[in-house]
Amino acid sequence: MRLALISSRCKLALLTALLAPPLAHADAPLEYFLHSAGPAATPTMHLGWGLTAMCVAVVAIIAVLLAGALVRRRPAAAPRALGKEGGGMGWIYIGVGVSTLALLASLFYTLVTLQAVAQPSAVPGLSITVTAYDWWWKIDYGDDSDPAHHFVTANEIHIPVSVPVKIGLKSADVIHAFWVPRLAGKTQAIPGQVNTQWIQADAPGVYRGQCTQFCGAQHAHMAFDVVAQPQADFDAWRDAQILQAASPADGQVRTGQKIFMDRCAGCHGVRGSDAVGVQAPDLTHVGSRRQLAAGTLTNTPEHLLDWVQHAQQIKPDSLMPSFTLNMQDAAALSAYLATLH
Ligand code: CUA
Repeated sequence: MRLALISSRCKLALLTALLAPPLAHADAPLEYFLHSAGPAATPTMHLGWGLTAMCVAVVAIIAVLLAGALVRRRPAAAPRALGKEGGGMGWIYIGVGVSTLALLASLFYTLVTLQAVAQPSAVPGLSITVTAYDWWWKIDYGDDSDPAHHFVTANEIHIPVSVPVKIGLKSADVIHAFWVPRLAGKTQAIPGQVNTQWIQADAPGVYRGQCTQFCGAQHAHMAFDVVAQPQADFDAWRDAQILQAASPADGQVRTGQKIFMDRCAGCHGVRGSDAVGVQAPDLTHVGSRRQLAAGTLTNTPEHLLDWVQHAQQIKPDSLMPSFTLNMQDAAALSAYLATLH
């Protein structure tokens, strides 16, 4: 009895969840691929809606025919009498014919869609290399024509609005997959090869991205943000990212930098300092980012210090250790990290 009650409650909860209207928030999961925001995603979204509509129509037609068959029974006959065989074959031919046509049409539509999203209509205005690591993303704004414009950041991609952006995808360890649902389909990042993808945002905004290939314990904590900005804002962001970190003058900040050099610089880099580690996110402008630990925490000074001291509780098995710091050291390190913005 109790089981039956629980089960009916579960059904009610499921039904409520299914019937609830999609959340209006731009980053809400239900908004994901149901509302595209750029030409690399829109044809795929239309294909998704089209195939969904076709499936719904098939289910509805079958339900109506089934209901009709139940209502319109065969006339009562003598128990042992044999009826005329062969009737109803027409329905079989219609069913097979309609199914074949529907499947061929959806195959054709899929091929057309794949062609439509294969290449942008204009030459990409920006090229970025993204390297997936367990469990974060290195973002490399390389510029062969101008090495002075080269810089590396992590877990946050900035792009100018309405410009196609080419993304070269690499992996440093296992197979990951790069997915910004509102901007483009999924593309795998495979060790030893470079896959390419392109994205374009038609409107300014923050578009959530996520690793979408299971890659280990913290696969779910391998997110990133794509921040689409008007060209002038993007240029200002890029100019700020190119700058090196300033040398600290103040006593406490200088102490914090020394702690950073002793304990963090083996893995993390800060351009303009002696920290040149490349196995972990570059922290030159860590304060400018929206999130910490690949979308795990919002970026506040408190969360940053919490992350340094409790990384293994927050993101178990990540390569970032939990550091034990006394109060003075924690305050000094925090003061130094606050200068990296
Ligand atoms: Cu990387 Cu899942």
